[in-house]
Amino acid sequence: MLELILPTAVACAESFADVPESTLLPEELEALGTARHEGRRREFTTVRHCARRALADIGVPPVPVLPGERGAPVWPHGVVGSMTHSAGYRAAAVALSDQVRAVGIDAEPHAALPGRTLGAVTLPEERQRLAALAADFPQVHWDRLLFCAKEAVYKAWFPMTRRRLGFRDASVTFDPAGGTFRAAVVEGTGAEPPAPLVYEGRWAAAPHLLLAAVVVPAGPAAVRNRPDCATPPPS
Ligand SMILES: CC(C)(COP(=O)(O)OP(=O)(O)OC[C@H]1O[C@@H](n2cnc3c(N)ncnc32)[C@H](O)[C@@H]1OP(=O)(O)O)[C@@H](O)C(=O)NCCC(=O)NCCS
Repeated sequence: MLELILPTAVACAESFADVPESTLLPEELEALGTARHEGRRREFTTVRHCARRALADIGVPPVPVLPGERGAPVWPHGVVGSMTHSAGYRAAAVALSDQVRAVGIDAEPHAALPGRTLGAVTLPEERQRLAALAADFPQVHWDRLLFCAKEAVYKAWFPMTRRRLGFRDASVTFDPAGGTFRAAVVEGTGAEPPAPLVYEGRWAAAPHLLLAAVVVPAGPAAVRNRPDCATPPPS
């Protein structure tokens, strides 16, 4: 499913269940520590199994993928990537840094955001757009999809900038028919080194799962999407 919303320059691997034969490398075991609960251990392990499958697709041999600054994964030199885990889903996406500057992926359960979360993660203009989308396409939980898109943006943003980005520091607009979105970072967030202020992303919705992906090309040329990657809302 993730492959459908990523360009050809990005390799990915996903799993809808924990993979019993997946193992951690010694450095990863040490990073995980002993005090973690079983659920965390399983997601940490399976997503790294996915990462090594995706890395193999771009010709990179198995390496540890350790949590670095503020939890951002540390990829081998010349590689960018992103990982996500949600209930019943784990995925990793990687690319060579001479083709892709940054990638961010996120998965969320396909359900409404809890309680007051919406107000905390959206701008007023976004809430207006969400209301219109919910009226026109009620089969999608647009509030959760917006949250998902913002987390994908952050996972691309942070490795480039090493700066935090608040949920209200970006305004997301969805194209419901094309399966795309655009996130405009509010000016004044000014990162050094400079990072793009506009992020183009794609999203996909399944009955129990929402996915969002953001890819920042390395050069001026846009990265090429797969021909069949338009993912309109499920009917
Ligand atoms: C870091 C964050 C994005 C993770 O998202 P999440 O939905 O909680 O969790 P997911 O399972 O999807 O992703 C977890 C993975 O994200 C990656 N990650 C964690 N911190 C990261 C960071 N600072 N930068 C990039 N990737 C990061 C890790 O690979 C992690 O997996 P691991 O711990 O097994 O290595 C989220 O916890 C967070 O801090 N959000 C606040 C910032 C934000 O999203 N702002 C919106 C700006 S518009």
